Amino acid sequence: MDKERNMLTLNIIGAGRLGKTLAQLARHSGRYRIGVVLCRSLAAAEQACAFIGGGEPRDSLQALPAANLTLLAVPDGAIAGVAAALAASGDVAAGSVVFHASGVGEAGLLAPLAALGVQCASLHPAFSFAEPARAVQGFAGTRCALEGDPAAFPALREFASAIGGVPFDLAPGGKAAYHAALSIASNYLVTLHDLAARVAAQAGMSDDIAAAVLGGLMRQTLENTLALGPPAALTGPIARGDAGTVARHRAVLSAADDALYCALGLATARLAAGRLDTAAQAALGRVLQPGLRAE
Ligand SMILES: NC(=O)c1ccc[n+]([C@@H]2O[C@H](COP(=O)([O-])OP(=O)(O)OC[C@H]3O[C@@H](n4cnc5c(N)ncnc54)[C@H](OP(=O)(O)O)[C@@H]3O)[C@@H](O)[C@H]2O)c1
Repeated sequence: MDKERNMLTLNIIGAGRLGKTLAQLARHSGRYRIGVVLCRSLAAAEQACAFIGGGEPRDSLQALPAANLTLLAVPDGAIAGVAAALAASGDVAAGSVVFHASGVGEAGLLAPLAALGVQCASLHPAFSFAEPARAVQGFAGTRCALEGDPAAFPALREFASAIGGVPFDLAPGGKAAYHAALSIASNYLVTLHDLAARVAAQAGMSDDIAAAVLGGLMRQTLENTLALGPPAALTGPIARGDAGTVARHRAVLSAADDALYCALGLATARLAAGRLDTAAQAALGRVLQPGLRAE
């Protein structure tokens, strides 16, 4: 009975992949009672409640019951509109917490609610919610970035921890840089793999051999750079100041691949600068000039 009384109410607006997952985890934590689960169609809301194992399905923002926390888990482009409609409804209490889960969008998307004294923030789990049933299994340990009104942070830190996440704070205005860092680490790693595989095919390596050779090297290098830091993990011709090898690489690349090679090569040369003398640095700078390769 006491436990029931101490539970916090969580309303979910937009119960898709992320909304359903976080709601089920919150319910299972025993700390949260699921209030309203709102989608644009009642059928979708009912389906979400069945997955979550609780909640009252709704398809309208009108007369929302009070909640300690309200999660806006709608697509990024819908957050500002839903926040404005919620503010207009007058049903969200000042002092309660409303948060969204966008990676790049800031708490400012909730400005009409903040103007009413609602504590507004964003909580972004660095996790891919491809399929809710799988996501609830794999969520534990996920880092959750908090940004926005610091008054909302204690409640959101508690929420993130209760669902198995590990919360951390972002600097004010840091959302775009945070999301850019994640995109570079995740997406550009894939782009690099694709570039390497394309160049390996030029050498006559079969897909199987290339996957084994590049995969082994990429895994080993990733472990090294995570353990040692980028400057110490760097090996290869640029780290050795070997401009001749760099010129031979460039001579066999397509124009598009060469442009990428040079951009990344110049950044790599800057990373290696601490262990190269001035003459080697200058030679690398010359041999990596885009568009100036020896044909
Ligand atoms: N998926 C991920 O891996 C992931 C990871 C981190 C953060 N996020 C963030 O989580 C948020 C939700 O993403 P998601 O992937 O869960 O999206 P999703 O699967 O497309 O779900 C969005 C949900 O919002 C509902 N919805 C759409 N427009 C609405 C509106 N105007 N009013 C009320 N409900 C509305 C949709 O249901 P109906 O169509 O039935 O209305 C659906 O249930 C986004 O901010 C996203 O950036 C997602």
